[in-house]
Amino acid sequence: MAIEVAVIPCAGAGTRMRPATRVLPKAMIPVVDRPVIQYVVEEAVACGAREVVLVVDERPGDPVMSHFIEGEPIEGLEGIAFVAVSQDEPRGLGDAVLRAAAAVGDRPFVCLLSDNMFPVPSQAFTPALVEPYDGRPVLAVRHVEGDLLDRYGIVDVDEHLGDSLVSVKGAVEKPGADRAPSSLGLVGRYVFPPIVFQVLAGLDPGHGGEIQLTDAIHRIASDGGALGRIVDDSLLDIGVPLGLAEATAAVGLARPDLAVRYREFLERILKGSG
Ligand code: G1P
Repeated sequence: MAIEVAVIPCAGAGTRMRPATRVLPKAMIPVVDRPVIQYVVEEAVACGAREVVLVVDERPGDPVMSHFIEGEPIEGLEGIAFVAVSQDEPRGLGDAVLRAAAAVGDRPFVCLLSDNMFPVPSQAFTPALVEPYDGRPVLAVRHVEGDLLDRYGIVDVDEHLGDSLVSVKGAVEKPGADRAPSSLGLVGRYVFPPIVFQVLAGLDPGHGGEIQLTDAIHRIASDGGALGRIVDDSLLDIGVPLGLAEATAAVGLARPDLAVRYREFLERILKGSG
């Protein structure tokens, strides 16, 4: 089934990326020559989206939206419709997604967190997430080490359906090792049926006093089930300094116009002669 609309939450204070985010929204931090948000939008487009809803915070003259709509269209993104909706206060990821309800309407949608990116958008994983969509949410998940089980939403696995597909019967936000129902963590790529908006609207604040997307996933999965698609290691967490440094290297090496000289440079500094 084709999914024509993508929701990309990109409000959020970016506290783990200070001082870069003192003024700049974290989605605008560049990796090589484009802001992080552009890689994420390119990924959404690679999986079929023609309409992109950006959930931004309320900065005057929001630079995230301006990046896409001002001036000449960006190559590869011609014809994509951009809609900005704002989240006036940080009430959590679930609340950010809920802001997109009117723009999405009664359509399934793909949701991509702009904290994570693949170094080569055209080889991104989201198309493999859209493919099994049958009305149940499809969640990208990855095996998470024990000490990181308090950094991710963790899914409760029902059964293994194949090499990289599991059925899911619940989810817990940042449970930690003692409460985690499995080792599979949510990594910021989801396909949702529109019912998720109704569920989000009825949620009380959860972990950290915020409206949690993971709690909505739990409700839907424990009622009618969900699917989990296991991702490999190429997804990078660019919401933290090490992840951003890794992304710079990964994109630099994946770019045909830069790869040869960039590799030479890296080899030189790795040998300690740079
Ligand atoms: C959010 C979600 C969490 C998910 C994570 C992936 O948390 O709430 O379920 O595992 O993104 O990056 P955050 O990293 O915004 O705290």
